[in-house]
Amino acid sequence: MPVIKATTKNIRKAAALLREGGVVAFPTETVYGLGADGTDPGACARIFEIKGRPRFDPLILHECSAARAGKLFSRVPAPARRLMRRFWPGPLTLVLPKSAAIPDIVTSGLRTVAVRVPANPVARALIKAAGRPVAAPSANRFGRLSPTTAAHVRRQLGEGPDLILDGGRTSIGVESTIITFRSGRPVLLRPGGLPLEDIEAVAGKASAPEPGGDKNPAAPGCLKKHYAPKVRLRIIAGPEGIKPSRRAAYLAFSKRPAGRWKASAVLSPSGDLREAAASLFAALHRLERCGAAVIYAERVPARGLGRAIMDRLKRASA
Ligand code: TXA
Ligand code: MG
Repeated sequence: MPVIKATTKNIRKAAALLREGGVVAFPTETVYGLGADGTDPGACARIFEIKGRPRFDPLILHECSAARAGKLFSRVPAPARRLMRRFWPGPLTLVLPKSAAIPDIVTSGLRTVAVRVPANPVARALIKAAGRPVAAPSANRFGRLSPTTAAHVRRQLGEGPDLILDGGRTSIGVESTIITFRSGRPVLLRPGGLPLEDIEAVAGKASAPEPGGDKNPAAPGCLKKHYAPKVRLRIIAGPEGIKPSRRAAYLAFSKRPAGRWKASAVLSPSGDLREAAASLFAALHRLERCGAAVIYAERVPARGLGRAIMDRLKRASA
């Protein structure tokens, strides 16, 4: 499982591997994906094996243009069409009725499919050269922290993928926002890299999915406990009342905590939620490896990308 730089030549090599049924990890603007030919059920099956992901949790199909992506759906409501025009390529995934050609393993047998057009130039070049939709979940072990660098992928998936394309650190740092539609109205399945405010300005007010619980969740992969670091994580309002300890780690939003900690990280010294999202997973990867027994993580404002950050922290603490 070589890690290779995402040069033009290596992207071509990775695309050839995908066409032969191989599994390739690659950067997107959100997190690294673990990709396979989305028209090849055998190749998609390998994604589930490598991730240790249950088969009921469907994959996202990635396309290199909105025109090609639109063909993967059998029906697109008008507000979804507007979102596609406005935000693709970008960190938005749409879940809509699937076209007949998509294999069942991609959608876990559902009648809908999740599709997005990534903005990262390596991802787009790879998908274009592969000449087919690329199925790709985040390139982590199931339920663990998402990868924002090639090193994160390698540490979790080891010899699993046939190739890891190293395109540097991802720019957005949290997964895409997932939107579906009910009766023509948007429903937020997962807060992510595209702020909900931007989506609502184009498609109208979004609702929360009907609660199905962990047995029958609206988004099958959105289990309560997910994105979990290996050590316990506790969400706190701030440093007040928390005693510094050499056995604990501290994840701050904007201000370095006083006192001596096993390790600490500041997500954004200027208090910028975009910057905080971009550094979130790298900080959590580092803190989970520092040997602390617990990570204290500060709340961030729940607006813009703060919604996605709080969502990931809550799942990590569940
Ligand atoms: O930013 C991202 O979205 C990254 C990059 C690699 O594109 N991908 C990603 O994939 O986060 P994954 O598989 O880790 O998360 C996709 C989520 C899962 O929770 C899955 O259950 C949900 O999308 N999903 C996929 N198809 C669905 C469908 N038809 N209906 C509802 N949820 C679906
Ligand atoms: Mg994931």
